[in-house]
Amino acid sequence: MARAVALWAGITFILVAAGVVVGADIGVNWGVQSSHPLHPSIVVNLLKDNGMKKVKLFDSDPWSVGYLAGTGIEVMLGIPNDQLGTFAKDDGAANDWVKENVTIHLHDGGVNIKYVAVGNEPFLSSYKGAFTNQVFPALQNIQKALDNAGVGNKIKATIPLNSDVYESGSDKPSEGAFRGDIKELMTQIVHFFKENNCPFVVNIYPFISLYQNPDFPKEFAFFDGGHPITDKDIQYSNVFDANFDTLVHALKKAGVPNMKIIVGEVGWPTDGNVYATKDNAKKFYDGLFKKLASDKGTPLRPGKMEVYVFALFDEDMKSILPGFFERHWGIFTFDGKPKFPMDFSGNQKDKLLVAAKGVRYLEKQWCVFDPTAGKQYLLPAQLDWACGHADCSSMTNGSSCGNLDATVKNSFFITLI
Ligand SMILES: *[C@@H]1O[C@H](CO)[C@@H](O)[C@H](O)[C@H]1NC(C)=O
Ligand SMILES: *[C@@H]1O[C@H](CO)[C@@H](O)[C@H](O)[C@H]1NC(C)=O
Repeated sequence: MARAVALWAGITFILVAAGVVVGADIGVNWGVQSSHPLHPSIVVNLLKDNGMKKVKLFDSDPWSVGYLAGTGIEVMLGIPNDQLGTFAKDDGAANDWVKENVTIHLHDGGVNIKYVAVGNEPFLSSYKGAFTNQVFPALQNIQKALDNAGVGNKIKATIPLNSDVYESGSDKPSEGAFRGDIKELMTQIVHFFKENNCPFVVNIYPFISLYQNPDFPKEFAFFDGGHPITDKDIQYSNVFDANFDTLVHALKKAGVPNMKIIVGEVGWPTDGNVYATKDNAKKFYDGLFKKLASDKGTPLRPGKMEVYVFALFDEDMKSILPGFFERHWGIFTFDGKPKFPMDFSGNQKDKLLVAAKGVRYLEKQWCVFDPTAGKQYLLPAQLDWACGHADCSSMTNGSSCGNLDATVKNSFFITLI
């Protein structure tokens, strides 16, 4: 039934595209770690066609940012982690960055820049402290440069942080506090946020909770109830709320109880793991968008939430160190096709999003595995080589093409060379 409705909606959708309503505070993450990224003009049209009003970037390439001019779409620019050292040391470099990547866009009919993300999850435990001493001075220098340019009131610097910057001794949000090794630094940072009216940006991943912990109750990753936890007199029926409120407690303990929180990334991947399926992703987004539309917020922060979906597209050049699913977070495929029906308005009138228009394709080419060829023993090493250069994550155990037999799999692998 849902499928029939979606098909019908797909046909008529273009006619009503102008009337698409996206929940006001839902944005999207636009990453470009892709071997065949879409042209920014195509992406900006896709955002417009789908009524998406906010976008978060991971860099600030002036050429692609320029295509957002005149659209009114609210933009969070990004500064990659590997540039933090420069801006930490050199406030002149920060001033230059703001000139070249921010103020240049602020003319009439320019780009609606609202935030600058200084680094991306720089305190991840897996970075082993590489950016720890750079983040705060870089943040200060970038905010100062925004102030110097006379735009610091309107444009705020912040740091998108993984939810691993806080922890709770148990699964109870009320025991939430900033992580031991960075507690003092996080306290300084959030007080800087407060003085400068900057929001706290946190990335929350129920999928990762499920992926990392085999005992995690699956239903708790979604929004349909089941396996609630009780914290004092509050009941949490999903890990998203519990995680968010753990942060609220951490902020309170750090002395900034009323700090604005934005969810910088939240989403569900569709391949590369047994839980990463389109069905699960759809279920997750349906629950999330319904929740957001209700303006219920979380037990400790009732009301409207500001949230950026992760992510707009699949990105086949992302590192698979976090897991094979890492290349499959898109609500669109790499080439801008919607993966499943969804409804950003939360009214559960699911339909396929409007696909990217004007995408040009290379001619299709493939090789076919020849089981009679000699030197078959060379194949595994060649497959490894090929998969080092192409994306084979869908062929791993538990993924969409994980059950292929050797012959079919080999043909697939060879296709990728
Ligand atoms: C502006 O941003 C781009 C892309 O992130 C970067 O390559 C460039 O160096 C930046 N400009 C300055 C002056 O820092
Ligand atoms: C594939 O994953 C399943 C669990 O998802 C596991 O039981 C099985 O042993 C794995 N197979 C291989 C070949 O790793």
